[in-house]
Amino acid sequence: METIKIGLIGLGTVGAGVLEIISDPENQAKIENTIGRKLAVKTIVVHNPNKPRPVDTTGINVTTDVDEIVKDPEISIVVEVMGAIHPANEIIEELLQAGKNVVTANKDLIASNGPKLSALANANGCDLMYEASVAGGIPILRTITNSFTADQILEVKGIVNGTTNYILTQMREKQWSYDHALKRAQELGFAEADPTNDVAGIDAAYKMIILSLFAFGTQIKLSEFNVSGIENITDQDVKQAGQWGYVIKLMGVAKLVNEKLFVEVAPTLVAKSHPMAVVDNENNAVMVTGAAVGDTLFYGPGAGGLPTANSVLSDITSEAKNITLQTTGKSFNSYQHERQLADPAD
Ligand code: HSE
Repeated sequence: METIKIGLIGLGTVGAGVLEIISDPENQAKIENTIGRKLAVKTIVVHNPNKPRPVDTTGINVTTDVDEIVKDPEISIVVEVMGAIHPANEIIEELLQAGKNVVTANKDLIASNGPKLSALANANGCDLMYEASVAGGIPILRTITNSFTADQILEVKGIVNGTTNYILTQMREKQWSYDHALKRAQELGFAEADPTNDVAGIDAAYKMIILSLFAFGTQIKLSEFNVSGIENITDQDVKQAGQWGYVIKLMGVAKLVNEKLFVEVAPTLVAKSHPMAVVDNENNAVMVTGAAVGDTLFYGPGAGGLPTANSVLSDITSEAKNITLQTTGKSFNSYQHERQLADPAD
């Protein structure tokens, strides 16, 4: 069976999660059943190859030189999980110009330059995919793309940052201080390397920019809407909200008002009876309201290595199916149910 070779740029929380999922033999068997190909990480680019890693890299070329991926004709899919806009932008441009399909979790970059990079991918006959850039493990971009094709989306709103939701949950349930809860969120791998963007609402704003692009086809800039974070929320605010029958959530909203797009990220009082009120810890939830379908709600882990890596894998396998379609003509459009389990016991 043919193997699709993957290049990985970055081996932090999400990169390690991707390698862990791909290396598991049971997952490999499922991937092979589904796409008729094996997946293997061939080369990993890191800053420091000598740093101890939580995953086994035996048999994989670990290097600091991105050219070992760009110039390798065997590698057809490259996963960028290094984060930050630069130098990720320049590296992805180089990869796309070399005809590589790119999968990224980089919301900072996609929110700032996604449409330009997508155009570059199109011009070079390859794909740029970024399911993991919004709401971690929730497959929200694919859902909006595939399942709202014929409906008019009126509003997208939700909790799209795991770190701040974790902090607010711990402040409410365990009376932890803001600083202690933030430190735990960093230890658990939910927060960005520099958590300023998480707590200031910028990370959520990047995700609302991407969601607005998918839901409304409109590219907006960070400077064009109001963004407030949770840095000034006190223990007293959390307690007072509880006494009034509310919880505080950092909510993002993008909706049509008089045919104009309104976008905002801000701490919001949510009634305890509202479905968003029970979305706690690092979990996220996104409500998409369509003119035909009405309210739909998607829930799941918004941060963390394995959940985010699962979204990266969904893009990799989607791309792998595309490669199979191009090379063999086999279509994957209808639902597939490969037999996974042994016959039930009598
Ligand atoms: N720092 C991000 C969050 C990670 O807390 O939601 C996932 O994008």
